Amino acid sequence: MQRSWAERAASIEPFLAMEVAERAFALEREGARVIHLELGEPDFEAPREASEACAQALLAGETHYTDSRGLPELRAAVAAEKSARAGVAIDPERVLVTAGTSPAMLLVFGLLVEPGAEVLIPTPHYPCYPNFARFCGGVPVFVPTDPRDGYAVDVDAVRRALTPRTAAIVVGSPANPTGAVQSAETLAALAQLGVPLVSDEIYDGLVFDGGRAPSALAASEDAFVLDGFSKRYAMTGFRLGFAIAPPRALRPLQVMQQNLFISCNHFVQRAGVAALAHGEPTRRAMLAAYARRRDRLAAGLRALGFEIPALPAGAFYVFADARAFGADSRKLAFDLLERAHVAVTPGVDFGAAGEGFLRFSLSAADAQIEEALARLAEALPARA
Ligand SMILES: Cc1ncc(COP(=O)(O)O)c(C=O)c1O
Repeated sequence: MQRSWAERAASIEPFLAMEVAERAFALEREGARVIHLELGEPDFEAPREASEACAQALLAGETHYTDSRGLPELRAAVAAEKSARAGVAIDPERVLVTAGTSPAMLLVFGLLVEPGAEVLIPTPHYPCYPNFARFCGGVPVFVPTDPRDGYAVDVDAVRRALTPRTAAIVVGSPANPTGAVQSAETLAALAQLGVPLVSDEIYDGLVFDGGRAPSALAASEDAFVLDGFSKRYAMTGFRLGFAIAPPRALRPLQVMQQNLFISCNHFVQRAGVAALAHGEPTRRAMLAAYARRRDRLAAGLRALGFEIPALPAGAFYVFADARAFGADSRKLAFDLLERAHVAVTPGVDFGAAGEGFLRFSLSAADAQIEEALARLAEALPARA
């Protein structure tokens, strides 16, 4: 008898950015030259010192399990660096090192979300937030944000959406896909609503025009912060991230980590220590390139007929209204991939609020951005 899979697997939706990428890889195997603007994958090398520290640790035999919470040196370095960014002292005992930000998200959602509990998510949103909520048996509840306000989270709207079943509020800042940076006041107001605030700060340090992204850690010791090395240090493939949690939450998170993952890779943690010590030039170089590409891409897209209601303040995406070319973002993105070999992410990946939009990643060289604009000019359907 064919058994059906567990309900939690069926509740997860495909990650469309990955579906586009996988189709793009198939086209490349057939010989196409695809321009990749679909993935949140920096086109920069990891800091050299991080790679060297990782290789040396590997050769030196640092290939064992570590403390499930992470190497003490790394926890201390993460706490020191995040303290400086957030402007508030963080005890290393609150840091849990994980194999990427995604496992940190799983553990924190696992801690907070009971079956049937509601998770409030301002939208457009990172596609995996509702899927993590569903995986834990929860129900995502979306709170719209408006491009005309720069996608600022509307605290009153969040308050109105609270119910006795609300288990968490999840905010990304700087945000994927909108690039919005939430103010310290907004984070403080959200932290005071009496429900745990989960603040995804993976794009912290990638804010344009000299700006900074306030951290939820400065707003409340009860906030859960998710962060990692993928974006700020171009270390996606190292798989290294962390959660910073309220003191009383560390023990249950540690117990989940012991059971689900045991520990994060030993030698990769050494790369993390080195990145924190030496990675600043990488972060600065990426930020300068993303700022230049943002301006060029936004100007080019506007000239083609896209509307960009709010330029991103941070992260590395341009979220463009493509409704002049059709209402179905999935169809438009796959058409552009097939006809122009330009890979972009359909806005609907980021929720119904993103339908009609396309997300363009800035992680492609300037020349590729120019060529993508030229190809789009040829391939875009006539404006409706
Ligand atoms: C907002 C956001 N959070 C988390 C992640 C996952 O990052 P990691 O590679 O550290 O698992 C991503 C990756 O794109 C992201 O955009």
